[in-house]
Amino acid sequence: MFTASEIRSTFLKFMESKGHTIVASSPVVPGDDPTLLFTNAGMNQFKDVFLGFDKRPYKRATTSQKCVRAGGKHNDLENVGYTARHHTFFEMLGNFSFGDYFKRDAIKNAWELLTKHFMLPEEKLWVTVYAEDDEAYDIWNKEVGVPAERIVRIGDNKGARYASDNFWMMGDTGPCGPCSEIFYDHGEEVAGGPPGSPDEDGDRYIEIWNLVFMQYNRDDKGEMHLLPKPSVDTGMGLERISAVLQHVHSNYEIDLFQNLMKAVKEAVEAAGAENVDPNSPSLKVIADHIRACSFIIADGILPGNEGRSYVLRRIARRGMRHGFKLGARSLFFNTLVKAVAKEMGQQYPELSNPRIQEVLRQEEVRFSQTLAKGLEILNEALANGEKLLSGDVAFKLHDTYGFPVDLTADVCRERGVAVDIEGFDAAMAKQRELARSQGKFKMAQGLDYAGAPTNFLGYETLTVHGCKVEAIYKDGEIVDEAESGDEVVVVFDKTPFYAESGGQVGDQGQFKNKTTILKVDDTFKIKADVFGHMCYVAEGSVKLGDLFTATVNEDIRAATARNHSVTHLMHKALREVLGSHVQ
Ligand code: ALA
Repeated sequence: MFTASEIRSTFLKFMESKGHTIVASSPVVPGDDPTLLFTNAGMNQFKDVFLGFDKRPYKRATTSQKCVRAGGKHNDLENVGYTARHHTFFEMLGNFSFGDYFKRDAIKNAWELLTKHFMLPEEKLWVTVYAEDDEAYDIWNKEVGVPAERIVRIGDNKGARYASDNFWMMGDTGPCGPCSEIFYDHGEEVAGGPPGSPDEDGDRYIEIWNLVFMQYNRDDKGEMHLLPKPSVDTGMGLERISAVLQHVHSNYEIDLFQNLMKAVKEAVEAAGAENVDPNSPSLKVIADHIRACSFIIADGILPGNEGRSYVLRRIARRGMRHGFKLGARSLFFNTLVKAVAKEMGQQYPELSNPRIQEVLRQEEVRFSQTLAKGLEILNEALANGEKLLSGDVAFKLHDTYGFPVDLTADVCRERGVAVDIEGFDAAMAKQRELARSQGKFKMAQGLDYAGAPTNFLGYETLTVHGCKVEAIYKDGEIVDEAESGDEVVVVFDKTPFYAESGGQVGDQGQFKNKTTILKVDDTFKIKADVFGHMCYVAEGSVKLGDLFTATVNEDIRAATARNHSVTHLMHKALREVLGSHVQ
């Protein structure tokens, strides 16, 4: 029996024997491609070679590529744990031709490897071709000898739902082309129909290899431009082909996952779970997610609230929640990094970095502070038996308890409940709007001011007499005066108020004369050397040229200074303990 590791090396060596250069996997974080969240296919690192912008010393390459499909165009996160063959992280075996061979060799090589080296019975293999692709059809049928009843044209008579299935695109833009897929028939004891049939989503016929005939570059308007030369990009999931060759039905039963699944079971049991069913879907989810998290962190991403960092956080927290579901009540998720490294560290030495576990441990500590309470709130909300969770509850879980909405949806799905995503989005939008209106004075920073710079005296004193009004702004417009009750931004010729900068907040306090009191809520810079005071006219009125005595609120200033000093100390200490990446 082939182990996954032997399958990987057999593939690469076979392709090498056919003139391909073995190239190392690129990181899961694409180097210089803003169109991609994560590396989602073997061809990503060759995108510019296909487009003709980059040249390599070889025209044929082969890789085993680390891929993450958990966000963006190719997103499998929601399927993980519910099907036998979806992963957030997986390895893609691929061979590539950059303007060298095209359909014929791509098809013949694939067939030779599958039937002569991996020894798959021909009658178990089905293929699909793009509806209009007679050339590929004829190669399969006439040259390779696949009988017509096992070749399916996708997109011809199946209606629009299938029309795009045999046309592969990396993302909304970039290289793309028609493709031909090879399927393996797991046998009639498994439910499901052949590709293109209404019950194709079953587990009987599984796509194992996708041969893409790269011909176009799709631009951001959706228009297709011919590539400099027709090329080939193929992708075969290592986990799927391993399941086929190891005669198991689910990817999670292959050798690579078996040890990991055992380690997951032990880890959740060490954390308090009892009598864990070795076939529990939660074990699969955790095994999948710890792999994804380990590789993503190894390639330099930290958990956070935006972009890739948030995808990482979502995967990590989803994994942690599944451990909690099994009964784990102390930290377990981060300890599994070692098991991943044990299984895959030989191929991917980056997994030995001790920071991976430390980063996940911190994330796990953070989430463990709110996970139980959040689930309690969710349980209460679900107790009424309704089949829809309100967007407000989902939002509260997100905002206060750090539950990404897909984690909430995952819990709900287990109980047959849907989440009101529209309501959730509306609650998010409302919060953003509120934050914006609270920050409206900050937006006044673009104010036009042509006068002299402000003379800042606040390091020497907190009280200054005779401050002269140089400019007044109301609702972003310059005005000559303002009345009691107005909110305005005022510029003076001199001031003791510190304006927000360098991470220290602006001063508060007041400007006062015989008739008028201006309460200062904040101070910020309109320009590098011009200070705007965010004032509420509490009494009287104010006009250009008026003179005031300025008094900074001493207690607030002192507290601000102390806090600000401490952030510097803290930053320095964090960098010493954790490393210079802390910002
Ligand atoms: N790039 C193709 C895929 O990901 C091979 O399916």
